[in-house]
Amino acid sequence: MRQVGLSISRQEIICAETAAGPNGLVVFGASGDLVRRKLLISLFRLFQHDLLSEHFYLLGIARTKLSDEQFRRDAQQAIRQKSPDVSPEYLEEFTDRLYYISGDYGDMSLYAAIAPKIAELNLKHHIDGSLVFYLSVPPFLYGTIIEQLGMAGLSCPMKPDLKSNIKLVVEKPFGKDLQSSMDLSEKIHRCFDESQVYRIDHYLGKETVQNILMFRFANAIFEPIWNRNYIDHVQITIAESVGVEHRGSYYDKSGALRDMFQNHMLQMLTLAAMEPPISFEADSIRDEKVKLLRSIRPFRPDEKTSFVRGQYTEGLINGKKVPGYLAEPTVGPDSKTETFVAAKLFIDNWRWKDVPFYLRTGKRMAAKDTEIAITFKSVPHSMFSSMGLDIMPPNVLILQIQPQEGILLNFQAKRPGSKSCISTLTMNFSYEELFGTEAPEAYERLLLDCMLGDQTLFTRQDAIEAAWRLLTPIMESWEKNGSVLYQYPAGAESFPAANELIESDGRKWYKLLRS
Ligand code: BG6
Repeated sequence: MRQVGLSISRQEIICAETAAGPNGLVVFGASGDLVRRKLLISLFRLFQHDLLSEHFYLLGIARTKLSDEQFRRDAQQAIRQKSPDVSPEYLEEFTDRLYYISGDYGDMSLYAAIAPKIAELNLKHHIDGSLVFYLSVPPFLYGTIIEQLGMAGLSCPMKPDLKSNIKLVVEKPFGKDLQSSMDLSEKIHRCFDESQVYRIDHYLGKETVQNILMFRFANAIFEPIWNRNYIDHVQITIAESVGVEHRGSYYDKSGALRDMFQNHMLQMLTLAAMEPPISFEADSIRDEKVKLLRSIRPFRPDEKTSFVRGQYTEGLINGKKVPGYLAEPTVGPDSKTETFVAAKLFIDNWRWKDVPFYLRTGKRMAAKDTEIAITFKSVPHSMFSSMGLDIMPPNVLILQIQPQEGILLNFQAKRPGSKSCISTLTMNFSYEELFGTEAPEAYERLLLDCMLGDQTLFTRQDAIEAAWRLLTPIMESWEKNGSVLYQYPAGAESFPAANELIESDGRKWYKLLRS
């Protein structure tokens, strides 16, 4: 396949960005990995871009005993790892706004200490009650912390009409099945309104995932063909080359279906397949997403052919030997947890009836590659059959999410030279080539939107439930009846049973990381 360049007019760039107003951010789990790797650098970048108010503070809370000074030093170190050239004075200007309290999350005295600290910091930083509580702790602690916040009166502002000034951010997983997600929601809603809750799926903060909406609904030429009349099938891939790394104990209880499929994968599916929302408002978009999730044909509990699961064994990644899943630290030696899932599903509505959607996600695959590939139907009749071209390859549109970020369109064209020479060319739009800059961290977008009170990129409880409702029968059937857990060597593109899922329909998985 050859590539042709794409020139995009940059005359019509329409950008709108609003800076956050005065805000306090209270982070539970402040000494943890997510804060160090993602949250601090994202907040710092917002600060650099003047998108964080000068009236801002972060109050970190965790069990580890630290002074404000130690917390600030650790934060500086974490930020320097991603932003080594920043001047010490400028960094201090940011970290001077960080504070820390240690304590036990279940202990009321911690919350008795948090309340006056918040009041003191609000006064010091001139903040009129706008507060974000961020839970960056293991999910089993969500209930305890939320309950304590409620009992301490911290989930409600002094004036009830200012309720939306107080927000709660929760990281996935939101439960482990339908019932547990409803239980969690019930606990949350005892203390917070749905309008105060921001459930993070970090995929929604990725530039290229947000671009799916722009691409589909800011152009008139794609929507008319975005349906069963023109589209043969859709493939959605989230492949990772990393293994479970240091997260074995969490992952072993979760597996690929809960860790990636229920959230990131279904979010990408909804954006690719939902109906046009009436506006760019949070609930217009979220209503359409829920409608789409509810249109997915339910899986029968005895479903054997629509889902395939696998687990990686020892293999080679970039020529380097890596251990199999069972040899990963803190994974049970006879674990039956899947690290790969492939599925075929149908969306029962007018647009998509009988168009198969093939989805796959796995760890320790040949490459990191996240993309949505829309394969169009072949031409109905080939006028080139006399030249031996009875079957023309179909057009494929690929929305590349990461690590290459862009859009590819494959089409047939005449090659110079002999009269009958046709080949597949690729029109390629690459974010990096065109815009040159590194995409912002997903958390920058999400933290800013949360402070602005924009829930568009956050998942609503009804969408969480619709996703679990769909997948719970599969998980139950895996647990009850067992299901074959295929093995694949680390570094594999796929394996026979996963291939069979799509090849039995006369189609093939696309290779990872085409360019
Ligand atoms: C997380 C999963 O939500 O997403 C991880 O828990 C996974 O298992 C990660 O590795 C992938 O995120 P990204 O942004 O690297 O694609």
